[in-house]
Amino acid sequence: MVDTGLTHPVSRAHFAGLGFAVPERVLSNDELAGMVDTTDEWITTRTGIRSRRLLRSGERLSDLATEAGKAALANANLSAENLDMILCATTSGDYLWPAMACVVQGNLGAKRASAFDISAACSGFCYTLASAAAFIESGVARTVMVIGADCLSRHVNWSDRSTCILFGDGAGAAVLTAGSADAGILTSTLGADGSMVEHVWMPTGGSANPVTAEMLANNEFGLQMRGRDVYRFCVEVVPKSIVESLCRVGLKPSDVDLLVLHQANLRIIGAVAERLAIDESRCFTNVDRYGNTSAASVPIALAEAAQQGRLKPGAIVVTAGFGAGLTWAVNVIKWTGN
Ligand code: UT7
Repeated sequence: MVDTGLTHPVSRAHFAGLGFAVPERVLSNDELAGMVDTTDEWITTRTGIRSRRLLRSGERLSDLATEAGKAALANANLSAENLDMILCATTSGDYLWPAMACVVQGNLGAKRASAFDISAACSGFCYTLASAAAFIESGVARTVMVIGADCLSRHVNWSDRSTCILFGDGAGAAVLTAGSADAGILTSTLGADGSMVEHVWMPTGGSANPVTAEMLANNEFGLQMRGRDVYRFCVEVVPKSIVESLCRVGLKPSDVDLLVLHQANLRIIGAVAERLAIDESRCFTNVDRYGNTSAASVPIALAEAAQQGRLKPGAIVVTAGFGAGLTWAVNVIKWTGN
């Protein structure tokens, strides 16, 4: 029999490397207060955000994603030729199509890699981790790059103070490789409730409501969100989903060494952690410096946690995303180091 190297049904996906990239341009709360009717005090107390990074005109999200991907490959001590697959979680890629994963594949010169995007908004990276794990466990791929990248600064309405203060741009990447079945991504839970599509969405620009000159003239363009409803929903569903995921692999919240939640709002992170009785020292946060970077927030947080020495071999790490759809996703990981 020919050994293709792709048949290892007892493997799990392990993190081999992490990297991230954010734009240089910093937008502070004070600067925002000069653009819309808001204050540093309101933004800080309601969200925990102090500044965010924005792409400058002419800068591309694919370049940030490529930079994050190169950093993850270097961290993993691997080269682009080692990649079997590139999955990119994004809802704000360079083009409507093709997928941004293809642009990144070309930039990296990852000639052997298949490439496609996954669209699950702020849950995107956690959905994509689960997908990559399934490809690795089934033997379809052995080495997968998973990217979360978004630039919602290009999609918010900059005159809507209830949303424009929240978002920042960025990209994070992980290289996953097949490894032993006793560690790595142990399980994932994915969820969606399509009855809440209109809770946070981009109603214009798609095929239902293509952008018209009139829409642009009337400033009827951009992301819309019922913030309070999304907040309530996430605080309710995310802890339940984390407990369910842990339970499936014989663990409980007290076993979690690091909780890495989507960085949407410091109050959401606090409320979810409180429901799980996970204290602040076991929660990673960087929402103060980057704001809500959508699909990029979890991989940027993981990469910073690794830099800070907070991801030790054997640690139980839980990642969770939530957002438009509404969607949510949880991954339980037994860390093996990178
Ligand atoms: O990542 C995708 C998923 N999205 C989320 O997870 C977001 C979840 N939601 C949230 O994080 C919060 O709901 C927000 C941060 C968006 C809003 O915080 P909130 O405490 O829920 O505020 P609110 O929307 O209930 O608004 C309270 C007040 C309102 O004024 P009135 O009606 O009480 O007079 C708003 O008009 O604050 C006002 N407001 C602002 N004031 C100053 C809304 N935005 C601003 C602002 N500056 N930027």
